[in-house]
Amino acid sequence: MEEVVIGGSSAQVFALKVARESHIPFLKLDLKKFPDGERYIRVLGDVEGKTVNVIQSMFQQPDVYLLEYFLIVDNLKDLGASRVRGIIPYFAYARQDGRFNPGEAFSLKTVVNLVQAVGTDEVFTIDLHLHRIENISKVFKIPSTNLTVVPDLARYVKQNLELRNPAVVGPDEEAEQWAKVAAKELSADYDVLEKHRVSASEDKKFGEVDIKPRELTMKGRDVLIVDDIISTGGTIVKAMDILKKNGANKIYVATSHPVLVEGALMKIYEAGAEMVIGTDTIPSPISYVSAAPAVARALKK
Ligand code: R5P
Repeated sequence: MEEVVIGGSSAQVFALKVARESHIPFLKLDLKKFPDGERYIRVLGDVEGKTVNVIQSMFQQPDVYLLEYFLIVDNLKDLGASRVRGIIPYFAYARQDGRFNPGEAFSLKTVVNLVQAVGTDEVFTIDLHLHRIENISKVFKIPSTNLTVVPDLARYVKQNLELRNPAVVGPDEEAEQWAKVAAKELSADYDVLEKHRVSASEDKKFGEVDIKPRELTMKGRDVLIVDDIISTGGTIVKAMDILKKNGANKIYVATSHPVLVEGALMKIYEAGAEMVIGTDTIPSPISYVSAAPAVARALKK
């Protein structure tokens, strides 16, 4: 069956890279904004009977990109596309994966329902972090795949940086999944930072929380911190502080999604990071690694 790749306005270049990597033809869209703010979408080619891979990442203006995604997919179905695969490298609202306070919106559920309702037949995400939900197939009713770009990040580190006696660290227990993958690629040890309630006999008040590596010693080691998202940078700065106190030498940071708000990058470099590396799921000054090859590989399967 014939196949094409198209990109929404958040992911035009990314989509072109995926098309080149996967050798699937790239189809252009005419995407405009009317003076009143409404969006105009036109597909510049024939999609009848084709599988269309729609790429749209949902950062910075998630609501705009979501609505644009809905307009694109619904339009493709009207135009006779036989199958639409939605590739959403950064999936907005994933962190609101429950109703934590009475009356709150369970935003992830709403967004997933809409992505499905509009006609998406299959969905791909990248390092989607579900805190309270076991895996992506518990959220989507359509076929869904959560890809990872952590091996690509680790390969970049391996090829471009020289870490001495390296340890890969996840800044919290949830990040163990990524630390493990990166460590394998680097043939290094991995660990996570864990919270411990200290007892009265230690150097702190009873019940105080101490955060430290679960089992490895960091003394004199170069450390690669790996996390899915850097948003405000608070998590990484805190992790760096703990690792330094535990004797770490040089600290490098890698992330799948460089959201980078509120001066995150400055905060991390000021805290002493050697280098912060991200991917282009969100275009940023640290997008040294492209997630396009990972997407292309998945589309070709
Ligand atoms: C949370 O569990 C995530 O994995 C990230 O650690 C978090 O979203 C990072 O946010 P921030 O950069 O604002 O600390």
